[in-house]
Amino acid sequence: MTQTLKTPETSQANRNRRTALVRAFTEPKGFGDATLRNPRPDAIELLGGIPDPGLLPTAELSEAAVRVLARPGAPALQYGRTRGWPELLSWISEREDVPVEQLLITNGGFHGLNLAVSLVVERGDPVAVDNPVFPLFLRGLEISDARVVPIGVDSKGLDVDHLEEILRAGQRISAVYTVPDFHNPSQGSLSQQRRRKLVELAEEHDFHVIADNPYREINFTGAPVDVSAFNGSDRVIHVNTFTKTLGPGLRLGWIRLPEELAADAIALRSRQDSHTSLLVQAIVAEYLTSDPGAFDRQLARANQVYAGRARTLVDALDRELPGFFDLQVPEGGFFLWPRLQDDSIDADALAASASRHGVEYQRGSFFPSGPGTDSDRRLRLSYSNVGEDRLDLAARQLAGAVAALRAQ
Ligand SMILES: Cc1ncc(COP(=O)(O)O)c(C=O)c1O
Repeated sequence: MTQTLKTPETSQANRNRRTALVRAFTEPKGFGDATLRNPRPDAIELLGGIPDPGLLPTAELSEAAVRVLARPGAPALQYGRTRGWPELLSWISEREDVPVEQLLITNGGFHGLNLAVSLVVERGDPVAVDNPVFPLFLRGLEISDARVVPIGVDSKGLDVDHLEEILRAGQRISAVYTVPDFHNPSQGSLSQQRRRKLVELAEEHDFHVIADNPYREINFTGAPVDVSAFNGSDRVIHVNTFTKTLGPGLRLGWIRLPEELAADAIALRSRQDSHTSLLVQAIVAEYLTSDPGAFDRQLARANQVYAGRARTLVDALDRELPGFFDLQVPEGGFFLWPRLQDDSIDADALAASASRHGVEYQRGSFFPSGPGTDSDRRLRLSYSNVGEDRLDLAARQLAGAVAALRAQ
């Protein structure tokens, strides 16, 4: 067997052959890059927006997998249609009350976002985005070399009045990116009045709204999110995923978009990866349809636990560090976004002290898409994958970290 030796010259030559696209990628700044962290082995990780594996329907999915693979001819191991596995499409179509012609199954939410951007954003176009923002969206935008136009987000979601002001002042955009439900990182939801106004602006100023909905089903309010304002508009591209409800490792989601854009999305997809894994689609469809109430029961169980954890974390922080944070009890999603009230506390020094005391979280400074936010005075604490005892302990350790800083 011949072996190719990698000399310093060949790796330099490879570097020189990198495309302009790859050369322009920015360096990771920590978020989404676990290798940059060095936590204590016993650290309590309040880091990622990940579901608790104990709340995922693992037994049901494995039984579904056995049934799917036992089907004559094993169709789930063959090629399939680009749009998706018919049973999964019909389930989504019925649940979301949307024609199958407006759907495309994706490899999860991030993939759906990338497809949406490729469909409606010309290279170099301006795109208005949440500020603070889900940082991986900005990373994805690098592929389109899009120009970021940051728009503030408050407890009622995207500041649509500010968006209107800059549009009236002549700013052109080809899309708005926002997380309307239980925002990552800032935990609020877009008000109905703002949803309606955003759709009106999209029609008037000819842009699309990319609505990133991973947390819509992680809802503690007892009432479903009212999606009517967005559902009625052909300006909105809905990006959904099973990541938070059935597990990120599935890499399974869907986008909903106007019929002509859906046809473009299929044409694009058929030039990329053909379709999402049929095996994954078929297993999930079998789980969703073989016992029609199973998914909602599963969600209800999980949401009860997540809501309890959110409450526990808020109560523990109030008890251990009274008045230290300005915070709101989450109504859904996986995150608490508390703001430091004490200006003498340096947020980076606090994160470092917390790490030494065994608590890891994302610093708020990872999340701005532009100037003008108070994100660098905030922490993003994820409670989804940590039990209540450990959340209590995390608050105590955080209080220890604050005391250590004050004693310096
Ligand atoms: C706001 C937001 N959008 C998209 C995603 C990506 O979802 P997926 O894992 O399905 O690609 C996440 C996951 O953390 C998220 O928080």
